[in-house]
Amino acid sequence: MQLSLAAAELLLAEHAPPHEAWPHHCRQVAKVAGVIGQALLAAKHPLDVDLLITQALVHDIGRAKTHGPLHGWTGFVMMRARGYEAAGRGCLTHWLKGRSRAEVAAAAPWSSSVTKSAFDALEPVPWQLLDSVLSYADSSVQHTTIVPIAQRHFDLYTRYGESSWLRRAAELGELHGAEISAALGFSVETLLTPLFGNSADGHSLRT
Ligand SMILES: [Fe+2]
Repeated sequence: MQLSLAAAELLLAEHAPPHEAWPHHCRQVAKVAGVIGQALLAAKHPLDVDLLITQALVHDIGRAKTHGPLHGWTGFVMMRARGYEAAGRGCLTHWLKGRSRAEVAAAAPWSSSVTKSAFDALEPVPWQLLDSVLSYADSSVQHTTIVPIAQRHFDLYTRYGESSWLRRAAELGELHGAEISAALGFSVETLLTPLFGNSADGHSLRT
């Protein structure tokens, strides 16, 4: 079932506690994803920008239930239960960041059954440019402020300590950026520069 943009915004608002900033983070990620998506369309790359923005709006909806490492899986399960599997794909892609099944099985701090379920849900659709855009957009929003991804990853190292998991996330973010830049024909960071420092209303949440 397809989730419209308006319905995604309502779903987000419905699950958004007034005291938390993660819904604002989601809206900022949607803003970045929309800018990149429109630029890719202008560069003649066919992309479902509405689906991309919808995924961005709900990518962290699992945080309504947990801020733990399984928030991506939790969000996908919430979306799938409502019949919105395609919109919920972003809950998986921003969380797994394009890591392989074997890589996650070897390194993830959760059970092998969750890894199996997550990849069984993800893999029938091959990783695509839209997934890279969503993941990159998420890496471009630190709390509720749009920043260069290097800054976002530095912030994550500062908060959680450097780890192979986070270093791999940074590496994949760079790869996705290169993929998007190649598709655009110019640097995606240049495209986003006018947005750097743009902040949504909200408190600083660890997202
Ligand atoms: Fe996020």
